[in-house]
Amino acid sequence: MATTTLWEEIVDALNAVNGGPHSGHRAVHAKGTVCKGTFTPTPEASKLSRAAHLQGDPVEATVRFSNASGHPGTPDADPLAGRGMAVKFHLPDGEATDIVAVPLVVFFARNAEDFLEMTRARVPDPETGQPDPEKLGAYLGAHPEAGVALQKGIPKLAPTTSFATSDYRGLHAFGLVDAEGETHWGRYTWEPEDGTEYLTDEQREAADRDYLQEEIRERLGSGIARFTLEFTLAADGDPLDDPTEEWEGEREVVELGELEVIEIVENPETPEEPLVFDPMRLTDGIEPSDDEILAARPKAYNVSIERRCAT
Ligand code: HEM
Repeated sequence: MATTTLWEEIVDALNAVNGGPHSGHRAVHAKGTVCKGTFTPTPEASKLSRAAHLQGDPVEATVRFSNASGHPGTPDADPLAGRGMAVKFHLPDGEATDIVAVPLVVFFARNAEDFLEMTRARVPDPETGQPDPEKLGAYLGAHPEAGVALQKGIPKLAPTTSFATSDYRGLHAFGLVDAEGETHWGRYTWEPEDGTEYLTDEQREAADRDYLQEEIRERLGSGIARFTLEFTLAADGDPLDDPTEEWEGEREVVELGELEVIEIVENPETPEEPLVFDPMRLTDGIEPSDDEILAARPKAYNVSIERRCAT
């Protein structure tokens, strides 16, 4: 008898939270807009890493902005939906490397088993349409890190005026490896050049269901959206394998480059050629940390990708 893998269970639970499965859509971040642009690294970037996209010459980038819900009909102004920004850097040798980020401050779970348990605790009760407060309360009671992540993260999920006026964080630690082979550990942040700007209550109430998708089209119709890629260097003792822990206090931040998001890509993917962003798609000069969530992500993503392409 075929057994269900942990990764299938995770995707099933994400579907259950989001009233899915929704045929042909990602299990989360179901609704999105794909754009292309250019990333230009700073001179400081090449001192930290020998990675090909950090050596000075601009590279092309593919960017997918998304509503983080797994339901493609979730309004962009939903206060808990959140957003995503996935960036693929196209390298001179034809390969690519990705950064997949969200506005959260820290992640909710330390490993895939906890993530599954928490997701199951969030599945709405068919009678009330809301998660069972007892189940969710029991999970949060046993996992204080999840409560802290929610407390810090929920305000950051509030709807912004644009995908281009939100910041996004990679949450995991990555090691940038320089030409001498020395590794510099840190975490990525995309800072919007226009700053982060949230909708007012009035704007939120008046917002169209897909206003973020529409706004980025309009914005790129007459201009460019710019982000700075920052790398917050770990201090001695900072945990490198725990995405639920904030590195609190002052840290050295290095600007790695500027991303110019220039135009919309129409029809960016087909079931035969899906567009896949993978936080473990790294390249020489970038190392993963021993973060269990980072290692888990591609396994769960593969289930979602196979299912969305099978339809
Ligand atoms: C165990 C933890 C996680 C699980 C199980 C999970 C699951 C998923 C799945 C199934 C997808 C859809 C993949 C596809 O069909 O292409 C996805 C997409 C995404 N995830 Fe996660 N995720 C996790 C953690 C994270 C974290 C920590 C971040 C941010 C730092 C993140 C950001 C995103 C973004 C931005 C997308 C959309 C990518 C795109 O536009 O194609 N996820 N996630």
